[in-house]
Amino acid sequence: MSIVETAAEGSAYGRPKGHTNKLLTEVGAGTPCGELMRRYWHPIAVSADLTPARPQEVRVLGEDLVLFRDPSGKAGLLYSRCGHRGTSLYFGKIEERGLRCCYHGWLFDTQGHCLDQPCEADGGKNKKNFRQPWYPVEERYGLIFAYMGPLAKKPVLPRYDILEDGAAFDVNIGGWGSSNDHSISVVPYSWLNMMDNLMDPFHVFILHSTLTGIQFAPEFAKMPKIAFSSSDVGLLHTASRRFDDGRIYQRHVSVIFPNMVSVPPITLEAGLAASVTWIVPVDDNSYTHVLCAKKIEGHKPEFGIIKDGNTGKAWSEMTPQERRDYPRDYESQAGQGVHSLHSEEHLAGSDLGVVMQRRLFARQIEIVAEGGDPINVGFDPAKAVVTVGAFNAYVPAEAAE
Ligand code: FES
Ligand SMILES: [Fe+2]
Repeated sequence: MSIVETAAEGSAYGRPKGHTNKLLTEVGAGTPCGELMRRYWHPIAVSADLTPARPQEVRVLGEDLVLFRDPSGKAGLLYSRCGHRGTSLYFGKIEERGLRCCYHGWLFDTQGHCLDQPCEADGGKNKKNFRQPWYPVEERYGLIFAYMGPLAKKPVLPRYDILEDGAAFDVNIGGWGSSNDHSISVVPYSWLNMMDNLMDPFHVFILHSTLTGIQFAPEFAKMPKIAFSSSDVGLLHTASRRFDDGRIYQRHVSVIFPNMVSVPPITLEAGLAASVTWIVPVDDNSYTHVLCAKKIEGHKPEFGIIKDGNTGKAWSEMTPQERRDYPRDYESQAGQGVHSLHSEEHLAGSDLGVVMQRRLFARQIEIVAEGGDPINVGFDPAKAVVTVGAFNAYVPAEAAE
């Protein structure tokens, strides 16, 4: 006897197996999205944390690397497996000219040149023929950035207009979403869950402002009018709210391609954003938040922990029961699974921003696959400054229509 159920009956039995859109979740070397992501600089460490005392392990875009600073102050990023017989350079010793492998002492400079092979005759007559695989790094705004793509396509490291007049910066790696809780440094689900969230301003009304209590400003509990648009650097969404006193308050959030966001302060103050955040894939299954905020006299850091409005606790202090009662970004995104099952989604009108962003990724992946240069990749140092375009403003009613 055959059992046939129709979709109209709605039974869970016999539903198709769900699957993930791997085109956008896979970021390893040689994958389409991995190749796209390798055309950009990504922040991988805090400059002040890297001293010549010892190297750091870094995992980014699915690659295991070792980052070190030599005594002259130069930073270097090497493939972690020593080219001799493969032990990790994480256990290496930093000395005057570079990083020396702990096992047989091969010495590498910041660009992977092999300078010494002490167990070989004459310190290794053929050492010049070998180079430890390496990636370029640059430092800016208190962060160390890596470029992991083809050297011939290395773009200039962008500058961001809102950070350019800063004398000092608060930088941090770790934490997630709006709670800014740094109790874990690696977020254990796909970077795409978070990227989708960046283009989803509607969840601010439900998740952060009504269903689970007030998590930001009480005024955010008013459903905004949302507009999505393309910008010169990626995508933008604007939330407009008319307050009881007649003023219209607009929040402009800029999502800078491929993996950055700038959010203006979650207050009712008008003004420019003072921070940017990168969503850096560690691998296909996890990512880190990297935050950089201009230090402003008299202001607390942009990314100070935002305590839950119901319990008064930081996310890391909440019990499992409290996290169920008052879920936030972490719960909603982890709840989608390490990778969401995109085939099971039913995207609606409010998901326009998510759709726009996924299309933008798909198009840029194609451009790279065809040999072109994707957006926000520039080679002219004179044009390195990016206009971020994230701000809060009060506007006349006509301008909001
Ligand atoms: S494994 Fe590194 S020098 Fe031998
Ligand atoms: Fe959020």
